[in-house]
Amino acid sequence: MTDRIDPQAVGARYAEWFIRGPRGVAMRFLFSRRGLWVINTPYRRILAAARIGPRDRVLDLGCGIGNLLIALAERIVFDQPPVGVDVSPAIIELGRSEVRRAGMENRIVLQAAGADRLPFPSASFDVAISSHVLKHLDDAALATALGEMARVLRPDGRFLLWEFARSPLSAPLFWSARLSGLPPPFLLRDEDALRQALSTAGFDRIARITTGPFLMPPVPRIALLARRMEA
Ligand SMILES: C[S@@+](CC[C@H](N)C(=O)[O-])C[C@H]1O[C@@H](n2cnc3c(N)ncnc32)[C@H](O)[C@@H]1O
Repeated sequence: MTDRIDPQAVGARYAEWFIRGPRGVAMRFLFSRRGLWVINTPYRRILAAARIGPRDRVLDLGCGIGNLLIALAERIVFDQPPVGVDVSPAIIELGRSEVRRAGMENRIVLQAAGADRLPFPSASFDVAISSHVLKHLDDAALATALGEMARVLRPDGRFLLWEFARSPLSAPLFWSARLSGLPPPFLLRDEDALRQALSTAGFDRIARITTGPFLMPPVPRIALLARRMEA
């Protein structure tokens, strides 16, 4: 069992990171639509694996300031607005202003919610995505969150996740977190651990997606596409 990570504390650290001073300006750029090429360099290739189309209702878990949903909505006119949730209400507020700045206030919904209790009925989404979030969940929280993802996805719905991999090559992540002075608590997992957690939660047909390199930080990621099992 991993040490407990407090989700509210993680959200509060991110909010502090995003809001205060010159570091806040840099973080808001990096996590914005414009910064995607820097911190989420191959996001287009990864998203393509889920074959998202206009009829899909999409959920982004741990959406930050809405960067991926804005990028998706630039390319796809969805029948129903995609929804992003983040544990930090302050980050959701920042995200709403990013969405307004992109002129998409009627096309994207952002709301504050933790991964442990998603405020949606069962089977209400076709696709769920989650980028660089699961490292902030301890083992118990990961099991709960994946159970919630399985609940809110319709049977055969797709869940696309990507995250830093547990690997000797990931050491720079720990240094950069230290240098930032404000690392939100996190723990890294290997592919087997994520696959196991997905299977236990009710996902099957789990496939690895080849991500290609990321600019910042240049450490390996794991990307997996899983299907919500038929009931
Ligand atoms: C590294 S950022 C990733 C943001 C965005 N997904 C991206 O890839 O640019 C992690 C985000 O996950 C959110 N988060 C962390 N733990 C969470 C939880 N338990 N429930 C919902 N959101 C969470 C944080 O508040 C933060 O905004």
